[in-house]
This record gives sequence, C-alpha cells and structure tokens, in this order.
Amino acid sequence: MQEEKGMNTLETERLILRKFTEDDFAAVHSYASCAENIIYMVWGPNSEEQTRNFINISIALAEKIPCKNYQYAAVSKESNMLIGACNLALSGNEAEIGWILHRDYWKRGYGTEMGKALLDLGFRELNLHRITAHCDAENYGSYRVMEKIGMRREGLFLEGRPAHKLSDKKYGDELSYAVLKSEWETRMEIEYYNALPCVFKDFFPLPDLSDGVLHLVCTAKKPAIPEKKWVPSYDFAVCKGSEKIGGISLRIGYTDGLYYGGQIGYNIDEKHRGNGYAPRACRLLLPVVKAHCMEKLIITNEYKNAASMRVCEKLGARFMRVARLPEWHDLYKEGKRFVNIFEWNVE
Ligand SMILES: CC(C)(COP(=O)(O)OP(=O)(O)OC[C@H]1O[C@@H](n2cnc3c(N)ncnc32)[C@H](O)[C@@H]1OP(=O)(O)O)[C@@H](O)C(=O)NCCC(=O)NCCS
Repeated sequence: MQEEKGMNTLETERLILRKFTEDDFAAVHSYASCAENIIYMVWGPNSEEQTRNFINISIALAEKIPCKNYQYAAVSKESNMLIGACNLALSGNEAEIGWILHRDYWKRGYGTEMGKALLDLGFRELNLHRITAHCDAENYGSYRVMEKIGMRREGLFLEGRPAHKLSDKKYGDELSYAVLKSEWETRMEIEYYNALPCVFKDFFPLPDLSDGVLHLVCTAKKPAIPEKKWVPSYDFAVCKGSEKIGGISLRIGYTDGLYYGGQIGYNIDEKHRGNGYAPRACRLLLPVVKAHCMEKLIITNEYKNAASMRVCEKLGARFMRVARLPEWHDLYKEGKRFVNIFEWNVE
C-alpha cells in the first residue's frame, strides 16, 4: 500500500521526473514568474521568494516517508534541462494530479507523457482507487491532456475558481476530470489488444466449416465502415442438417469498440439451446480466425447472461473483468452499462 512509499525518480520516453533541488531555481522561476505561462494557475506569477519557497517545500515533501505529495521536476533526457513540473497529491486512496511546462515546450506531447507517468505511479505503484484533475475551463491544453490519458469529464463547475490571470471577471469555470483504477486497467488492456497481430487483405475463401454435427453457412461478408470504426466481418448461419438453428459473426480486427463488443457474437434459437451448439459454432470459426492471423479473441456478454458466460467457460476462455461501458459505445446507448470480458486464446 502507499503508506510505506518514499518518492522515487520516474522515467518516461523523453523525460526524467525527479526530486527538486535548490539548483532548479532559475529554470523553475523562468516559467513560474511569467504571466502568460501561468495564466490558468491559481497561483503566480511568482516572486523570487515564492519560487524559492515552492522549491524548498517540494524538497521537504519528497523526503517524507510515506510521501503524500509527489512533486516532480521534469527534465528533458535530450538536453538535461528542467522544462516543467508535475505532481500527485494523495488524499486517502485517491489523488489529484497536475502539470506545468515552460511554454517553449507546449504542444509537443510532454504534458501527455507526464500525465501518463502520474497515472502509472498512482495506480500501478500506489494502488490508488481514483485519480482526479482540475483546470480552468478555458485551459484546452490541460483538459486535452486529461482526455488523452483516459480521464473522464465529471463536471463543469460554474464560477468554481478564480478567473484566469488575463480575465476581467472575478470567477472562472472549472472542469473536473477523474479516472478509476478499473478504467485505467481497462485502457491498458485495450491498448494491448489493439496492438495484437491481425491481417486483413480481403475476405478469405472459406473452407468447409463443419464438424459432423453443425456446419456454418456464410450469409454475409461485410466490409469495414471506417467512419463508424467498424472492422470487416463475416456472418454465418449455424446449421444442423438443413435446419438453421442460430447465427454467429466474426469480426476481423481489434479496436476500442470491439473490446466491449468482442470479435465473436453468437445466438442459438431458443428451442436448440442447452446442447453445446454455441461453443461448437465458435470452434468452427477457427480456420477463418487463423487465416487472418488472429491469436486472441475477445468474447463479451451481458453482465448477468449466465448462458453466454458458460459458453466462454466451455471454450476455455479466460474471464478478464466486468468492464463499465463507455458512454460513446452502442451498447451503452442501448441502455447497457456493464459487460463481461473474456479472452479466448486460440494460438
Ligand atoms: C497544460 C500543459 C501542461 C499541456 O502540456 P503539453 O505538453 O502542451 O500537452 P500535449 O502536447 O501533450 O498536448 C495535449 C493536447 O493539447 C493540445 N494543446 C496543448 N496546448 C495547447 C494550446 N495552448 N492550444 C491548443 N492546443 C493545445 C495539443 O495539441 C494536444 O492535442 P491533440 O493531441 O488533440 O492534438 C501546458 O500547456 C502547460 O504547461 N500549460 C501551463 C500550465 C497549466 O495550465 N497547467 C495546468 C493547470 S491545471
């Protein structure tokens, strides 16, 4: 648990996030004393004394064990120069995170890099439950960072903070973002699946897909619809002799949406249920799956759909998690809120 942790140096692709030292004064003061640079911060522009105080407090906080407020100096690996700072402040099993860069380094992805590192620290290292971030509603760069690292907008608080430095108003609006550990883990999983191999040049000429009991008859080969982010898919009728007893679809690819919808969707007509036909039909897809070089398939089912969960178990698919559906997903729009995620490894 976080109670015993001290503050360690973090490393990202292009940055070292380390403790502050007194030698950092000039670099910190160059952005902290500049009104354009700190326009959206509730503090500043800093006097020299205020910057020295900030550095001294940060140095002291970093030495505390357990550390409750992680104040990082962000140093470019390339130039070894301090180009900004970020922090994670604990409160129970939650934390608030924040960031600032010298404005010469804006819009180069460093904010996103720092944000990702802070979430990694908070969830992987400190095992936190929830992480929040807040900013002036006009601070596009900052809330884009929040969105890009997977945080969810939770609220807009009208006149919930002092107006930004160049405003003629007294109060400004505040945006509030948060992410749960489970959402962050889901996001990591999605990134993992989206990077899996999958080859689609064209629809594959289908071999005989039968096992002596069932056979699959292809009813549609649906091309991708890029604007909807839909991948190509095959639809099959599941047949027993001459009778159609259900349907099964295979989607070729890995996308954010498919993580929640799965590569395989099946249904067996009611009067034929309870005979193990759904797992049989899934197995009949394997030559097609392999032809497209896919090694892992996600099968999802509604939170309380015991029959579909049994199908996954019979296939030997691994239960991954109950995932909360994002608002943009079609299943969410249909009123569903959670799905079970299973991974079927067909290597
Ligand atoms: C907030 C801040 C850390 C963002 O850092 P950054 O390194 O510029 O962020 P990134 O490069 O990772 O950019 C994230 C996104 O925001 C966009 N963005 C960042 N700053 C922007 C700006 N000033 N205007 C328009 N877009 C901006 C980027 O283009 C990128 O968007 P995209 O990927 O959708 O194209 C930086 O702007 C900053 O230091 N601001 C002053 C301090 C501050 O306001 N801190 C936050 C207090 S809550």
